[in-house]
Amino acid sequence: MGFTSSNQHLLSKIATSLGHGEDSPYFDGWKAYDKDPFNLTQNPNGVIQMGLAENPLCFDLIQEWIKKNPKASICTAEGVDEFKDIAIFQDYHGLPEFRNAVAKFMGRARGGRVTFDPDRIVMSGGATGANELIAFCLADPGDAFLVPSPYYPAFDRDLRWRTGVQLVPVPCHSSNDFKITKAALETAYEKAQESNIKVKGLIITNPSNPLGTILDRETLRTLVSFINEKNIHLICDEIYAATVFTEPNFVSIAEILSEDIACNRDLIHIVYSLSKDMGLPGFRVGIVYSYNDEVVNCGRKMSSYGLVSTQTQHLIASMLLDEEFTESFITESAKRLATRHGVFTRGLAKVNIDCLNSNAGLFCWMDLRRLLKESTVEAELALWRLIIHEVKLNVSPGSSFHCSEPGWFRVCFANMDEETMEVALQRIHTFVHQKETVVPAKNKKLWRSNLRSLSFSSRRLGLDEVVLMSPHSPIPHSPLLRAKT
Ligand SMILES: Cc1ncc(COP(=O)(O)O)c(C=O)c1O
Repeated sequence: MGFTSSNQHLLSKIATSLGHGEDSPYFDGWKAYDKDPFNLTQNPNGVIQMGLAENPLCFDLIQEWIKKNPKASICTAEGVDEFKDIAIFQDYHGLPEFRNAVAKFMGRARGGRVTFDPDRIVMSGGATGANELIAFCLADPGDAFLVPSPYYPAFDRDLRWRTGVQLVPVPCHSSNDFKITKAALETAYEKAQESNIKVKGLIITNPSNPLGTILDRETLRTLVSFINEKNIHLICDEIYAATVFTEPNFVSIAEILSEDIACNRDLIHIVYSLSKDMGLPGFRVGIVYSYNDEVVNCGRKMSSYGLVSTQTQHLIASMLLDEEFTESFITESAKRLATRHGVFTRGLAKVNIDCLNSNAGLFCWMDLRRLLKESTVEAELALWRLIIHEVKLNVSPGSSFHCSEPGWFRVCFANMDEETMEVALQRIHTFVHQKETVVPAKNKKLWRSNLRSLSFSSRRLGLDEVVLMSPHSPIPHSPLLRAKT
């Protein structure tokens, strides 16, 4: 059902605005995937979804737990006795055992180095709801939050659309591995002030989406001192806390607060959810954990608009209070993520594709700068379209994360099975070889058929201009002539 222009007058500004972002070109990749989704046996030439930060790698462990604990669900013969108590309306405070369980899990997901107070937990519909809720609590329409870029694209929707809040990017650069510096923060803050924009806070994702990196202690201390100097809020979206798969350990902002550091705690808020660490985005379990009593108070009332169903609260409470399970789940999940990350990045390295060094998250930040025709957003998007429509991988271009340097792409590696990842890697190998080499006339036929078997359209890729490689060989056939990139 499309809107007609007359709806502009019938509906609210929010309803008719483009704030949701679904009209952005980046949804083209999703549309391409939806139209032609890859399936190893039924549609092996389809588009592989590498734009989805999902984590089903440990679903078998959760399924096993559910089978062993039928009482935890109120919709089983074993659990139905509790049906009445749970199914009736519950208020916006949340079931006490749910808040307790989430607080304990948050501590465990941060290595047991910090504890969380269940009374500070405010429920919401996923981190999406939590981010909007905290924005509603801290800022008025027109006010702004600083956000180090590249940043999670849906912040543009979650923090801005219905609240009327603005986001001011703090550009970070590859020259220092996209670290957030005090100088960059100061510059962005001053620029906002010069434009008469009132900055109410700084929002970070730690571990970072899209970088997959974690903030070190020193950087976190710098952020705390910066926001204290300016008397603005610090929101830490720690939704990927337990996806850290190798050292160094994750440092939560909660750990920094437990140090002897000068800080007004009323300015610090954590956003969390079970969507990534437990791989349960469909359950919509999100929370705001605020050190500010008034924010807890007001947020709790607002959470009426995004409650987690009591059925889910009940199940999650039982699961997360099983300490043996959560402990082994977190350890095993990290192991499986590390393996995936290793296989994927080593696979990319075979065709000299580097990724930013990372130890967390469900994705890599892939450097394809050398494949750009020129260092522009247009060239990045041209390459991206080629990857979607010809290589048939839905990856996400850096510009959708407001990255200030063209040529970076986020590629998710946890949301598919191993075989699919192998196919994706093979397609990347073949594509890179095509882009970087020129084919001798006599080999063209052979390579065309190789490519076809990987579902590329040779005509549309302009193979006459490039050398084609065997998808099975990492070394280009001679003569090697670099195509224009
Ligand atoms: C940094 C970040 N925050 C929030 C969200 C939204 O998570 P949820 O599914 O819990 O709403 C995501 C999901 O990708 C994310 O990456």
